[in-house]
This record gives sequence, structure tokens and C-alpha cells, in this order.
Amino acid sequence: MDINTIKEALKDTPVSDIKYFESIGSTNDIAMDWALNGAKDYSLVLADQQTSGRGRLGRKWVTESGSSLAFSLIVHPTRKEIDGITLFSPLGALAISETLKQRYNIDTEIKWPNDVLYQRSKFCGILVETSWMENRIEGIVLGIGINITQASVPPADRLQFPATCVESAVGFPVDKLEVLSKLINRIVFWRERYQTTEFLEKWESVLAFKGEWVQIVQPQQEDIIGKLIGVDLNGNLRLKDRRTDKEISIIAGDLHLRPIDEK
Ligand code: BTN
Repeated sequence: MDINTIKEALKDTPVSDIKYFESIGSTNDIAMDWALNGAKDYSLVLADQQTSGRGRLGRKWVTESGSSLAFSLIVHPTRKEIDGITLFSPLGALAISETLKQRYNIDTEIKWPNDVLYQRSKFCGILVETSWMENRIEGIVLGIGINITQASVPPADRLQFPATCVESAVGFPVDKLEVLSKLINRIVFWRERYQTTEFLEKWESVLAFKGEWVQIVQPQQEDIIGKLIGVDLNGNLRLKDRRTDKEISIIAGDLHLRPIDEK
């Protein structure tokens, strides 16, 4: 991959500037810094390999050379986007799910809040981070890692959740830059429809485990078991609590969701 090929592939997107690295620690780190130092809206940091890629909840995210799409998109948020910032990662997840449906006709699901699954195995993770200038959010960094080839799938003993990759789902080699270009345009599409019921309905239509029993694991608190009802416009998960039979709302944060086999 070289910068001219990347620019050509992204010419029909609003990406303004691109930093491309054959190998870097984490694209999010570069983007967080750039957001405070002159990056325009839709500036992109892309890497072929990450040596210290980061995931949610302090986890590592491995990106081996030639195997994945790993990038961070910088946006300068509006007031409305700052108020509804928890929707940014599901927005990215929905954009990925739709891109793969539109281009390859594969059906994927979103595990709340933002993992994208194919046949209940994860192939994409999203890490949204913010860059602050004094007491105001100057930039939102949408960090996305997509497993493309089989080489990107970590060995099973390193996984907390089953994993797969786009090429396994599709059944043939895919053009990473074509996926990236379509995905960015889909992100733009949903950004223009931020916090709308249209967005909520689309997100719910691909929400994994809807109507099924799930367990919410949160640090230093008792796990919650409930039936998954849906999501709301604050990005919260709606569950029917097994103990009380009442609807409760789970706020996205330092927790994870697991499916369970419960009657
Ligand atoms: C997760 O599922 O835990 C989120 C993984 C996010 C990985 C991406 S890869 C590009 C960007 N740079 C990083 O260091 N992390 C994100």
C-alpha cells in the first residue's frame, strides 16, 4: 500500500488529509494528538501494522501486517454530537454492517455497544476516544479495527469471544481500500442523521441477541441478567431484568455483554 493508492481509493470520500504508516504503535494515539494540532474534519490515520493497538476496557488489539484494516478517523464534533457522544461507536458499527451488506451481501450483527459479529463471531472492534482542549472536546477519534484476512484472527486461546474475519464471511479476497472508502461514506451518511429514530431503527434491526437472555458483567458490581429488548437514543441498552421483570437501562461503559443459555 502506498499513499497515492490510498488517496486514489478515497477520492470520492470527504477525507481531507491522510497519515499512512506501514507500522505504528496505535493509530488512535496519532489521531488524538493530530486532532489538537490542526487536523481538519475527516482527517484519517491509517496503518498496515500496529505494534500497540488498543481495544476497549484496556485490552490490546493486535494488527498484523497485511491482515487488517486499522484506522482512526478524526471528527470535530458539533454540540449535538458531543451531547450524544455515546452514539458514535454504534454509528461506526452500523456503518460497517451496512457496508458489508451493500457490497458483499453478508448479514452481520452488532453486539451492544459496538462489536460487529458475523455468525456470532467478532470481526471488528471500535474504540472511540476524545481529544480535549482545556475543558472542551476538540476532536472525536473513531478508531476502527476490522479483521480482513484469516491471518488477523487471533488464536482461540487468546480470545474472550469467538473471532472471524471478513474474507471468511465473504468467501473470497476483498479489497481493503474499497471497503474503507464505502465505510467512510456510510459514516458520513449516519453523521448527517445523528440521533434520529431512523438511526435507532436501523441499529435495532441488526442488534445481536435481541429477545435473548444476556449477562452484563461490570467491575465491582453484581452481574445483571436480563432479556435484551433493544437500545435507546442515548445509546443505552434496554433489558428486562430477570429478578424484577421490569425494564432497566444499561449505560455503555466499563462493562461487557455475554449471551447466556437461560430459559
Ligand atoms: C475493541 O474491540 O476492543 C476495540 C478495538 C479497536 C481497535 C482499533 S484499530 C485502529 C484503532 N487504533 C487502536 O489502537 N485501536 C483502534
